[in-house]
Amino acid sequence: MKITIVGTGYVGLVSGACLSDFGHQVVCVDKNLERIQDLKKGIIPIYEPGLDILVKKNVKSRRLTFTDNIDDSLRSSEVVFIAVGTPSRRGDGGADLSYVHEAAQEIAKISDNYILFVTKSTVPVGSNRDLIKVIEKANPELKFDVASNPEFLREGSAIDDFMRPDRVVVGVESERAKELMLEVYKPLYLRDFPIMFTSLESAETIKYASNAFLATKITFINEIAQLCENSGADIKEVSKGMGLDERIGNKFLHAGPGYGGSCFPKDTKALVETGKEFKSEMELTKTVIKVNENIKKRMVNKIVSSLEDSVKDKKITILGVTFKPNTDDMREAPSTVILPALIKKGAILKIVDPQGYREGNEIFGKDVEWLSDIYEAVKDSELIVILTEWNQFRALNLLKISKLMKKPRLVDLRNIYSEEEALSNGFIFYDSVGRRNNKN
Ligand SMILES: NC(=O)c1ccc[n+]([C@@H]2O[C@H](COP(=O)([O-])OP(=O)(O)OC[C@H]3O[C@@H](n4cnc5c(N)ncnc54)[C@H](O)[C@@H]3O)[C@@H](O)[C@H]2O)c1
Repeated sequence: MKITIVGTGYVGLVSGACLSDFGHQVVCVDKNLERIQDLKKGIIPIYEPGLDILVKKNVKSRRLTFTDNIDDSLRSSEVVFIAVGTPSRRGDGGADLSYVHEAAQEIAKISDNYILFVTKSTVPVGSNRDLIKVIEKANPELKFDVASNPEFLREGSAIDDFMRPDRVVVGVESERAKELMLEVYKPLYLRDFPIMFTSLESAETIKYASNAFLATKITFINEIAQLCENSGADIKEVSKGMGLDERIGNKFLHAGPGYGGSCFPKDTKALVETGKEFKSEMELTKTVIKVNENIKKRMVNKIVSSLEDSVKDKKITILGVTFKPNTDDMREAPSTVILPALIKKGAILKIVDPQGYREGNEIFGKDVEWLSDIYEAVKDSELIVILTEWNQFRALNLLKISKLMKKPRLVDLRNIYSEEEALSNGFIFYDSVGRRNNKN
């Protein structure tokens, strides 16, 4: 089967690599010429474990190609995935659909034969029905269908998530579209992964409801973490005790510095806007957004108070800035709020992150120093802050580190270590999220 994917970012490139690995003939299109030139040279523009190997393998077998010219690929594809960005609109936070519309119009204008437009981008309920009108206007003669196929992959484990999904959700309105989508996902269908056909509206809503629910779960445990700190309970014990209840489950119950990333922040805001449009106020999601913002501020206060309420001219080593491990994505990472707040207060920051430099350097600029060696980065520091739980940070030689630091303090916002471990290895201060320390 010949498939075109428009938009070769995190979702488009992973989808393209995986669909070509299923045996389909896939062309990935992007209007970012530099990105396409890099991909043609074998340079992967994003960090995602295993993606380089999968792309290389399928390029070699000629099932996967890249172009900046959509014309080339459309001639032979019946199925076109749209995987372009849907960022927050400036002002109200609703989803900006201009990239999706632009891509659909472009495809419609140059197509003569039947096309199945598959929306993989995350779009609010009602968007695919609007898209039908956009396509009809761009090319009134075109025979086409629209399918809504939201993506649920997680950065950091994207290939596995695509190849072994909990479910594939497909909103369709015609038998032809359904048959084509079954062919696209045939390797998953044959292995009994659930493929769920729904209306366009249900598919769109499943995506937003899932993300808002997960954001709520994280925010809930983060709020309980504050109660634990103030009351003497231990959030790790509380999370474990809750998670053992099968109705609750243990996923997304780890307290930390607030959710971030390319999806939860923008999708929760978009859901609130959609709610207004359909006269169904999303009060719970609104509160989640507000509480999550406060959690990030609380983390800044935690850091400042660990240094006797002033970070001015103090050297702080930050371990991890990406929104989670195993990605280079910095979009809405808690670090993008916490670090500027510390810089504004006069802190001197040194950063270690295995993949964060490329994007992080654009965000933090000259205000910070980047180092690759943790032991070099902690020299003369008065505080280490663990912001992202990269594996490299899970087995630090705390004794060696404490000897290198000016004043060995650790603020562990991912609860990797314990106060006992830190203090017995020469640290004079340890704080984490949701666990009382000897200070509070
Ligand atoms: N990143 C994730 O983890 C994730 C997970 C699930 C769903 N999603 C959703 O998938 C969509 C894409 O997200 P992403 O993170 O891959 O975005 P991204 O910003 O990484 O990639 C989007 C790509 O689309 C390209 N593009 C934009 N307009 C184009 C056009 N007209 N023609 C060709 N290329 C065009 C851009 O140049 C860019 O390379 C979003 O709606 C997002 O919400 C993302």
